[in-house]
Amino acid sequence: MRAYIAGIGMHVPERIVTNADLEKMMDTTDEWITERSGIKERHYAKPGEGPSDLALPAAKEALEMAGLKAEDIDLIMFSTVASDYMIPGGGCILNEYLGIPGTPALDIRVQCSGFIYGLAVARGFIESGIYRNILFVAAEVQTVALDLRTEGRDTAVLFGDGAGAVVIRATDDPNRGILTSKLHADGRYARDLMIEAPSTRDNPWLTKEILDQNKHKITMNGRNVFKHAVTNFPAVINEALEALHMDKSEVKLVVTHQANLRISEAVAKRLELPMHDVVFSNIQKYGNTTSASIPIALYEAFKAGRFTIGDTLVLASFGSGFTWGAVVLKW
Ligand code: ACO
Repeated sequence: MRAYIAGIGMHVPERIVTNADLEKMMDTTDEWITERSGIKERHYAKPGEGPSDLALPAAKEALEMAGLKAEDIDLIMFSTVASDYMIPGGGCILNEYLGIPGTPALDIRVQCSGFIYGLAVARGFIESGIYRNILFVAAEVQTVALDLRTEGRDTAVLFGDGAGAVVIRATDDPNRGILTSKLHADGRYARDLMIEAPSTRDNPWLTKEILDQNKHKITMNGRNVFKHAVTNFPAVINEALEALHMDKSEVKLVVTHQANLRISEAVAKRLELPMHDVVFSNIQKYGNTTSASIPIALYEAFKAGRFTIGDTLVLASFGSGFTWGAVVLKW
């Protein structure tokens, strides 16, 4: 039994924030942002809009393409770094929105690698025969927590909000489905991309000290992230292909986590793959949407006709943790 993607959907909030808009909020320039990240614009959720609100239309679209109703779903999986509430997770809110009480809801929390880790988990459930139909949504509303002043410009310009959803189903068709998944983490770099507080370790309450020290905002060692991303992306993609004795010439499209265009270009170069033909990128329009970026990119590549049934795709991620991974599948 194989796990294959039977439906896909996406949704981004209406409000578009361009680099010119950011220029008015902080000391930055379109030139700096474009040159360092490739990003031109991103979408911002409106006040009161949570990741589950973005997840719902994406989930409905994926269900429709798969020809399933919400009631047919055996398991909801929900990946986010920015849950609607601290407790419970977004999967329970989506369960409520879809009107399917009783259907289990599992939250995945692996930052930018959430979609890749989640696909591996879904594959395990399906290949073991536990579930046949899984709805897996990755949804992020992270712009509400960005520091849109000059003090926060190193990270604020990079991120956007959005959701991508897939329906993963069981099939006995040998020409479709997930062929392999490889996952990794290295906690030595856990503090190189983090939000430190409030937290059980430090202080569960938002204190004046936390606010004064900016511990509630995202901090990033950008150079270290870049260095490890450009090494680990190609390494894990090669590891996955080697496990299948597959040559990269057999790959129709590589869809990586949209962290930064410069990272994607460096990965394409190291893999000796043509950037525009084989390595897909849409970060220009959405910025970095963390775990939602791969399903959003996959959706747009699918709609653009970049692959069809039976084509081999490689999906890969790198992110906070550090965590990274790759999935090879036949669409
Ligand atoms: N606009 C204008 N200037 C800026 C901005 C900004 N938005 N942000 C920082 N600067 C300034 C800095 O203050 C610094 O000025 P100084 O020289 O006067 O001190 C200068 O630009 C250079 O700053 P650096 O941090 O050294 O810039 P660098 O060349 O390293 O680029 C960047 C920063 C783009 C973050 C780079 O390190 C990078 O690409 N890292 C990869 C990280 C990444 O993409 N993360 C995405 C999220 S993580 C993930 O998804 C895996």
